[in-house]
Amino acid sequence: MEYQNLVISEKQGVSIVTVSREKALNALNTLTFTEINHFFGEVAPGLKTKGIVVTGAGEKAFVAGADIKEFFALKGEDAKWLSKRGQDIFFKVENCNKPVVAAVNGFALGGGCELAMACHIRVASEKARFGLPEVGLGIIPGYGGTQRLVQLIGKGKAMEYALTGEMINAQTALDLGLANHVVPHGEELNKAIEIVLKTADKGPLALAAVIRCINDNFDENKNGFETEYTLFGDIALSEDFIEGATAFTEKRKAAFKGV
Ligand code: CAA
Repeated sequence: MEYQNLVISEKQGVSIVTVSREKALNALNTLTFTEINHFFGEVAPGLKTKGIVVTGAGEKAFVAGADIKEFFALKGEDAKWLSKRGQDIFFKVENCNKPVVAAVNGFALGGGCELAMACHIRVASEKARFGLPEVGLGIIPGYGGTQRLVQLIGKGKAMEYALTGEMINAQTALDLGLANHVVPHGEELNKAIEIVLKTADKGPLALAAVIRCINDNFDENKNGFETEYTLFGDIALSEDFIEGATAFTEKRKAAFKGV
């Protein structure tokens, strides 16, 4: 699939996904969603790169939300479908089998905040602004925002920010645990890449398993402890585990193959 609103590039062996609708502050319209769905559903699982960084085009925005103009042409069932579809697509981001780091270079509002929260780790530029302003539009977050904000910052603060729609600056996002790091503006992409590279010499099966175990903690239909011992057992049978343990005893760097 050829993308119009996503630019896929590679830096230091890391895939960079840039949401690219700069004139609309990278707002997520249907086409952009279709492309994100394709990338995380069809492309990402088979990528040979070390991980993925998601960012926004331009100086101003990561993603300023769902495309409001498009959203408000919808009614009832259509809007419900769009919300469910957005959630399903962001589950693909969250369940990606390799690390996904958001480099939040500006406004991450509504659907943009939801996209950043679906990523495994968030690096914020000091100019980043997070928030769920949907109540000001008379609607509610629809792509998992009410759920993931609670997971990341707790119920009381999530209630406050989702009810007031107030923007969260980078330092506050860091203090709340919404951002993992804050860096000077312009350095967020490199910092995000640096984090992916820290995972790059680790066992790929182990990385994928950790992502699943941690995500299962938040899935009421799953028992994360059960996921953990099951995947621990599976991975103990892998060539990677033999290689990791052998490399340790031989005092050398492991060469994992992901099998
Ligand atoms: N959808 C569509 N277009 C958007 C947009 C969005 N979410 N956000 C910004 N744009 C467009 C603006 O309409 C404007 O386009 P025009 O030049 O054609 O008018 C352009 O991007 C630049 O925006 P501004 O002129 O508004 O820039 P600013 O610097 O004055 O303000 C901003 C920046 C505070 C981010 C402001 O654009 C804003 O408040 N945007 C909307 C944020 C928002 O409410 N997001 C939530 C969307 S709803 C949602 O996401 C629902 C969900 O969870 C499913």
